[in-house]
Amino acid sequence: MARVALVTGGTRGIGAAICLALKAQGRTVVANYASNDEAAAAFQKEHGIPVYKFNVASFEDCEAGIAKIVAEHGVIEVLVNNAGITRDGTLVKMRRDMWDAVIDTNLGSCYNMCKLTFEGMRERKFGRVVNVGSVNGQAGQYGQVNYAAAKSGIHGFTKALAQEGARYGITVNAIAPGYVDTEMVRAVPGEVLRKIVAKIPVGRLGHAEDIARGVAFLTADDADFMTGSTLSINGGMHMY
Ligand code: CAA
Repeated sequence: MARVALVTGGTRGIGAAICLALKAQGRTVVANYASNDEAAAAFQKEHGIPVYKFNVASFEDCEAGIAKIVAEHGVIEVLVNNAGITRDGTLVKMRRDMWDAVIDTNLGSCYNMCKLTFEGMRERKFGRVVNVGSVNGQAGQYGQVNYAAAKSGIHGFTKALAQEGARYGITVNAIAPGYVDTEMVRAVPGEVLRKIVAKIPVGRLGHAEDIARGVAFLTADDADFMTGSTLSINGGMHMY
């Protein structure tokens, strides 16, 4: 039986590319999404990947969403915490709700989703977890104290959980994407984005598939000696 892989924020952008890469790897893939019903329906129709709408920032919503997925497809053995949002602004302009939304969605979701799946992985002595961080969690970014803190938190979370899973056949790794050509990055003001791209040695934005390839590598069944690591895929923007 193919292992079930769940990708949060999996119907658009990097998450959608991850879903396709894991499907090509032979996984039974399911995608979570938060709000864009139209994009999710189109994604499901085009790729035959079932979609589940729930808010990963809410523990109760995750509990209900995961229970539904397990009932319909079986236990989750591969988990990719990809869902993320931005609420950019310099600290002086950043309201508390902008901070909370980003911390809860980007970092709180990792707690929620891992908390609800990790015990089962331990019992079965197999699990693959990939948390999607960011170059901006490694290097910081003007206008992103919330996002940088959440993504940096993901990198620490990953290293701690990796230690807890190691004896049970569970690997926990992070990917740190650079600037990838997605709706999130296209929302950055044009002039600002041009300056950012000028600092990428490869000379272009990444493709979602560049990141998905890394996730497929880290979640392979035989990738069992790599854990607690952060794979940076950023066009050379931050060599770490
Ligand atoms: N370093 C120093 N100064 C900078 C700067 C930088 N990197 N960037 C902007 N500034 C300056 C501007 O020149 C401007 O200065 P003046 O007022 O003297 O002209 C000032 O900062 C702008 O300050 P504002 O008060 O207007 O800033 P703001 O609160 O309105 O925020 C911003 C502006 C939202 C930060 C905008 O610059 C922006 O969107 N920046 C890009 C943020 C970014 O990279 N987001 C990534 C989103 S994608 C993503 O996150 C995916 C991933 O993982 C990579």
